[in-house]
Amino acid sequence: MPNTLTLALSKGRIFKDTLPLLKAAGIEPIDDPETSRKLILETTQPDVRIIIVRASDVPTYVEYGGADIGVAGKDVLLEHPNAELYEPVDLKIARCKLMTAGRVNEPVKTGRLKVATKFVESTRRFYAQQGQQVDIIKLYGSMELAPLVGMADRIVDVVDTGDTLRANGLVPMELIADISSRLVVNKASMKMKHARIQQFIDDIRRAVREQNND
Ligand code: ATP
Ligand code: PRP
Repeated sequence: MPNTLTLALSKGRIFKDTLPLLKAAGIEPIDDPETSRKLILETTQPDVRIIIVRASDVPTYVEYGGADIGVAGKDVLLEHPNAELYEPVDLKIARCKLMTAGRVNEPVKTGRLKVATKFVESTRRFYAQQGQQVDIIKLYGSMELAPLVGMADRIVDVVDTGDTLRANGLVPMELIADISSRLVVNKASMKMKHARIQQFIDDIRRAVREQNND
């Protein structure tokens, strides 16, 4: 829409961690997505609105113009290697690591590893770089379960404290990528609404610097 900025955010961690950055840029949502069922939230700036989408759908909404700007985890962006998006700012929020993990005392495996993950693209690329042939099993969540029920030898998932792995008798193994959330921008919006978006990017960059004391 001309003269308005639409921001795509996901509920939960990304929304909570983005709020202080938006606030520093003078933008505050009127509704709270945790209590409201609205998917479009007005903000204190009449020309800025927030849409609430699934974390893994943020790149799609921004690429196809459903939103001008979005906040997405690098893990999610790595799953969209061909997306036509600008990625101008590392927001340094929702930090974690994309890792392989397996059972603590796993039996020695001969033959191809079975790897369960929702991060199929990163997993494929990681094992290809290692020159290792694996069978990837696509899941949408609760990856930790797959080795416990004998469906997979490894998982690839995001790890922060390691509590989820530990609670399920798994250990982190190889680091695939350090993850944080990024600002992503629709390419056409960047051209058509350049001044407004550049101002938004500058405000957010300043807020990230202040939040990280650098
Ligand atoms: P979807 O709803 O699309 O399945 P999701 O449930 O993975 O997504 P969130 O759990 O809100 O969405 O995670 C959003 C982003 O936060 C992830 O893409 C990742 O970059 C980051 N993240 C996930 N888990 C953690 C964690 N435990 N600590 C820090 N950051 C995390
Ligand atoms: C995320 C992710 C991991 C977990 C890692 O799940 O899916 O399972 O965090 O964090 P940890 O190393 O600190 O345990 P989350 O708690 O966000 O729930 P989700 O599965 O609904 O995303």
